[in-house]
Amino acid sequence: MIIRPRAFPFFILTLASILTNADDTTPFDCHVTVGGLTFDLTSLDREYSASRTRTTPPTTMVDSLSFNICNDLKPQSGVAEQDQCPTGTRACLTKTNKKDSETDRIVAVIPLAQTKILDPKYSASASPTKYLSILLKGPTYSLLPQSLNLTLFCDSEGISEPKFVGYDGSQLDLEWSAPAGCAVVEGDKSPPSGGGNNGEDGSKDGEEKDVGSGVGWFFLALILAFMAYFGLGAYYNYSTYGARGADLIPHRDFWKEVPYMLADVVSHLCSSVRPRRTASRGGYISV
Ligand SMILES: *[C@@H]1O[C@H](CO)[C@@H](O)[C@H](O)[C@H]1NC(C)=O
Repeated sequence: MIIRPRAFPFFILTLASILTNADDTTPFDCHVTVGGLTFDLTSLDREYSASRTRTTPPTTMVDSLSFNICNDLKPQSGVAEQDQCPTGTRACLTKTNKKDSETDRIVAVIPLAQTKILDPKYSASASPTKYLSILLKGPTYSLLPQSLNLTLFCDSEGISEPKFVGYDGSQLDLEWSAPAGCAVVEGDKSPPSGGGNNGEDGSKDGEEKDVGSGVGWFFLALILAFMAYFGLGAYYNYSTYGARGADLIPHRDFWKEVPYMLADVVSHLCSSVRPRRTASRGGYISV
């Protein structure tokens, strides 16, 4: 594809709006800002589990929770579909009844948090105890609204086992400690509820919204710079050389090369991203 130089600003404009929109519509993506504290939970993006066992003679009841706060749980292979939470679940509680000499029976499968209705609520504290608390919502089960209440304590040493604190038929309390429970940027940014948007995004873990509008401003500045460059360049060529038509484009030879250079870069990227797949196809490289 060759981008005509005249269409170039519009191409950039489209690209900019795609990027800024993508930023605006991000759902819960494991970056949390609350009370002036910023947390990056992306290191917790995998499936974890916690369980508790209650003796209910003559049986025992095992409540086991699997969860991934950043993503949907994967369906378990070898487990009947009715014994699993539906797709789009981030926290699933399963109650299994065990009795000596009998096979285990799954008696309840409860989605506690679902991506579509997650409605995340946060609270955090920097002292005396450092923690981030996240409340995630799920659908109603057995007439009761379900939710997962995760309290994530700050522990820079490492990730602990998640602890099943309790479940009252509606809310499951879970305690956990991990480095992700420590705030990334502390304090002196704009106040949490003020909505102060001064467009500063110097730090790499800046607040989401500020970054979003920062990206937008960056592209706007870029577009204006491009327009000024082409406008002034064309005027210069016109007034100095009396150029007409395509000759007005400043550095015309360079811009003619750009689409080919881009194509080159893209093909390089593609060939380095897919080495494994091509290797498994016996060294065949598609052109
Ligand atoms: C969440 O659980 C903790 C205990 O783990 C409790 O102190 C806190 O009050 C709970 N939060 C809500 C909103 O119920």
